[in-house]
Amino acid sequence: MSDPQWWQRGVIYQIYPRSFQDSNDDGIGDLKGIEARLDALVALGIDAIWVSPIFPSPMADFGYDVADYCGIDSRFGTMDDFDSLLAACHARGLKLLLDFVPNHTSDQHPWFAESRASRDNPKRDWYLWRDPAPGGGPPNNWISDFGGSAWEWDEATGQFYYHAFLKEQPDLNWRNPEVVEAMLGVLRFWLDRGVDGFRIDVLWHMVKHADFPDNPPNPAWTPAMGEMFRVLQLHSTDQPEVHGIARDMRRVADGYSPERVLIGEIYLPVERLMDYYGRGAPEVHLPFNFQLIEAPWKAETLARLIADYEAALPAGGWPNWVLGNHDRPRAASRFGPEQARVAAMLLLTLRGTPTIYYGDEIGLADVPIPAERVVDPRELREPGKGLNRDPVRTPMAWDDGDTAGFTRGEPWLPLHDDWRTRNVAAQRGDPGSIWSLYRDLLALRRERAALHVGDWLPVECAGDILAYARRHGDERMLVVLNLGDRPQPFAIPEWAGELAVLLSTRGAGADPARLRADEGLILG
Ligand code: GLC
Ligand code: CA
Repeated sequence: MSDPQWWQRGVIYQIYPRSFQDSNDDGIGDLKGIEARLDALVALGIDAIWVSPIFPSPMADFGYDVADYCGIDSRFGTMDDFDSLLAACHARGLKLLLDFVPNHTSDQHPWFAESRASRDNPKRDWYLWRDPAPGGGPPNNWISDFGGSAWEWDEATGQFYYHAFLKEQPDLNWRNPEVVEAMLGVLRFWLDRGVDGFRIDVLWHMVKHADFPDNPPNPAWTPAMGEMFRVLQLHSTDQPEVHGIARDMRRVADGYSPERVLIGEIYLPVERLMDYYGRGAPEVHLPFNFQLIEAPWKAETLARLIADYEAALPAGGWPNWVLGNHDRPRAASRFGPEQARVAAMLLLTLRGTPTIYYGDEIGLADVPIPAERVVDPRELREPGKGLNRDPVRTPMAWDDGDTAGFTRGEPWLPLHDDWRTRNVAAQRGDPGSIWSLYRDLLALRRERAALHVGDWLPVECAGDILAYARRHGDERMLVVLNLGDRPQPFAIPEWAGELAVLLSTRGAGADPARLRADEGLILG
């Protein structure tokens, strides 16, 4: 591969800004706080931060309801704070990605205020307004991802508007060229300021079927799954016209430079996901690949899905892997503390750009949230179905102080109860900690071309062992992961006979012919 871009070689780190670092004692993280912690991220060894939404917002969905795309919410700081953060990132060689939320605005956005003002308002068609069904109910059976009908009745103008998420998040009408222009203008606004790219929220939702037909029922649905799964989102997502919009966004980014990156949040099966790289014309650089979040933690399953994903990539399409984010249970809770280390090794040795979720590097697990402290609208609307996202959004722990160095106030969500020991300062001083493992993995990945740009090749294995090779020119590396909690024999392939163990998730004493329980090894 000639001349890979930073977003191919590098590693992305997701910051949930409310929970990273507070600088003014209100218990909510902010931009000055992030800036103050950049050196710790440089020490860890990441290349870019993606910051979840920081724009003015009523916070019905904690910033994913944007009331002004070109401003900064006062809870997070000011535009000067933002410019300062961006400059501080660039001074350290870090890139900064913003979270672009194009599918819907806040219902407090001035555009929506105009749109709902009257049926003949010039912005009426910027959102999705429909008459009631013949019986008087909602126009169709589409269900909000947060439960209930996706249609909200507007008494004043006698129509329903569509919201794929909360009723406080009305969907924009991307079939309207004025919407497209206005939103591409938002991208230009931030690109002109110098941001290095965007993570694009729910990209596959952006266009709906023009006729709004009913979605088919989901034959596998049970109430425990949550309401959104009651119907299959056949007509409400992943419509062919979304690709034209993705191409438009890409043209804007490419107009600046090939280093400005677009990452699409897309939960779709691999075949459909691949379309978002662009067929014919380029779309997003990285359609997020969430398979490590969703797949069962079994060697055979993972081996197959990695090989299938590699095989499905279109020519020139660069792979990527995600282990966690602000919507899904944390890796340490899904896999347990030992396998979370093996998972880190997998994430950082696969071919393609990894995204690390803040806190995973200290092995943070889902934090139980007492009922009276629940704030996630998803949980509040559909309680007790395991949909709560608060547990994965809790404050970062920096030291063993009373509020873990996160704030001097009352944290907006509770800290994990072992923060006195599970914090960055403690783990930086401990070569056996998961933070140190992440740092070592990141350093090795940066140092070795086989890891950051090399080919990926499966290696024959059995039982709980997942093994693969990475190869670049003459450089050969072997990764062997024991996904089980018992020792496992491994038949070292002949070509790897001379390789030395460079890193083990379990420290000294590794023997590649016999892996210890929960051990991952890199040989090179
Ligand atoms: C995305 C975000 C999620 C948000 C939703 C609606 O899935 O990751 O946090 O609630 O979009 O914007
Ligand atoms: Ca604050």
